[in-house]
Amino acid sequence: MASQVLVAANRGPLSYVLAADGGLSARRGGGGLVSGLSAALAQQPEALWICAALSEADREAVRRGVAEPGVRMLDIDPTVYDDAYNGIANSVLWFAHHHLYDSPRTPVFDAEFRRQWASYVAYNRAFAQALAEEAADGACVLVQDYHLALVPGQLRELRPDLRIGHFTHTPWASPDFLRMLPDDVRRELVGGMLGADRLGFHTREWASGFISGAAMDDATGVAEPQQHGVFHTGYGERRFTEVTPYPLGVDADELRALAHRPEVDDKLAGLRAEVAGRKTIVRVDRTELSKNILRGLLAYRELLTVHPEWRGRVVHLASAYPSRQDLAVYRAYTESVAELAAEINAEFGTADWQPVLVSVQDDFARSLAAYRLADVALVNPVRDGMNLVAKEIPVVSEAGCALVLSTGAGAYAELREDALTVNPYDVTDTAEALHAALSMPEAERAERTKRLAAAATALPPAQWFTAQLADLRG
Ligand code: F6P
Repeated sequence: MASQVLVAANRGPLSYVLAADGGLSARRGGGGLVSGLSAALAQQPEALWICAALSEADREAVRRGVAEPGVRMLDIDPTVYDDAYNGIANSVLWFAHHHLYDSPRTPVFDAEFRRQWASYVAYNRAFAQALAEEAADGACVLVQDYHLALVPGQLRELRPDLRIGHFTHTPWASPDFLRMLPDDVRRELVGGMLGADRLGFHTREWASGFISGAAMDDATGVAEPQQHGVFHTGYGERRFTEVTPYPLGVDADELRALAHRPEVDDKLAGLRAEVAGRKTIVRVDRTELSKNILRGLLAYRELLTVHPEWRGRVVHLASAYPSRQDLAVYRAYTESVAELAAEINAEFGTADWQPVLVSVQDDFARSLAAYRLADVALVNPVRDGMNLVAKEIPVVSEAGCALVLSTGAGAYAELREDALTVNPYDVTDTAEALHAALSMPEAERAERTKRLAAAATALPPAQWFTAQLADLRG
């Protein structure tokens, strides 16, 4: 039966595991996008989620015709998938949107890049075709993220009757970074996005960045950039693509319930024993270049150097769980994080005090326990679409936490008033903010946390999704 509401995302709500006896079992999919969308779609039982098969077990499930209701997995050729996901989405688009290029060396757009770009186009086309097959007349389609930037345009060519939305979970590259892309690729990228009726971003800044980037290039067909979108002449007619911020927030009730399960209580007891009554600075991230974990550790080292009164009185709990380990640059970053943490422990540690406790397990229960224990939350990305950790910690922390927040996080737009805000490149500024956060009087901390939690829960996932759907239906 054709669907009225469809979602397309690289990751799906579940992934499969292949047992030694050949049996397949389904597990919940990973990542922030998946948790947000899963919560939102729980209220849209008729919706269809189209995703890629990410592993051999997923591909086997597709081949065997194993199907969960509301999910269609696409078995994309593994080489095409690897080029599209690792080669283009995570090594080119991710780097451009997060300003991660190290310009003396990267990017390099050569013949290999062209081959990978062709795969990215094909991977997007597989999604566009599946959506075209599955969508009912006039259905609403919500495409997710930079992996699928070309889908809106490809789908519009196939099914002009559909209402097409696209949401970007990352920032949008500033004009200087967008201009690094080869001209034809940049136009294809922006033109693909403009196939949508509506484009969503986490903040006004990223939305405006898209509008100005699209307008700087005549060949994208953008005739009139407006504050809330662009008129353009792509797809054979003059059309308006609306560009709107939908700042994703957290669901307070759900998060607090998750944070008070017995499993989390056990982890909390373990952490309390390790911390032994000291103050805590908590961070939780994927080991991701944009999260700025190294400068966070350097700031902690500077704190212990410049404010020696904190030695022995604070513990930095850093969860940095592995991510994108297929990419050499991520593996090297992960090693650097471990090395720097070890250096700090060697420099300042004593027989009964380990200054940094790094956890590399993707252990959500332990992360929630750390949230509950947090005196200070450190969220210092160089650039980040939103950063839900900045929103989750104030909701869950027990005694109230002081939030040290980078100006580069999307969450800065909503949380800046009650956070201690820092330039993510300025290690000294960050060290001083950590000192101020640790020194903040309890009453002030509690008041700020209350306001941070209110701002963080303003647009929980289900409302975030239904707001987009309502706007798309227009
Ligand atoms: O922040 C953008 C994003 O795509 C999220 O939506 C997602 O949770 C995260 O990056 C993880 O990326 P990956 O799917 O590559 O692990």
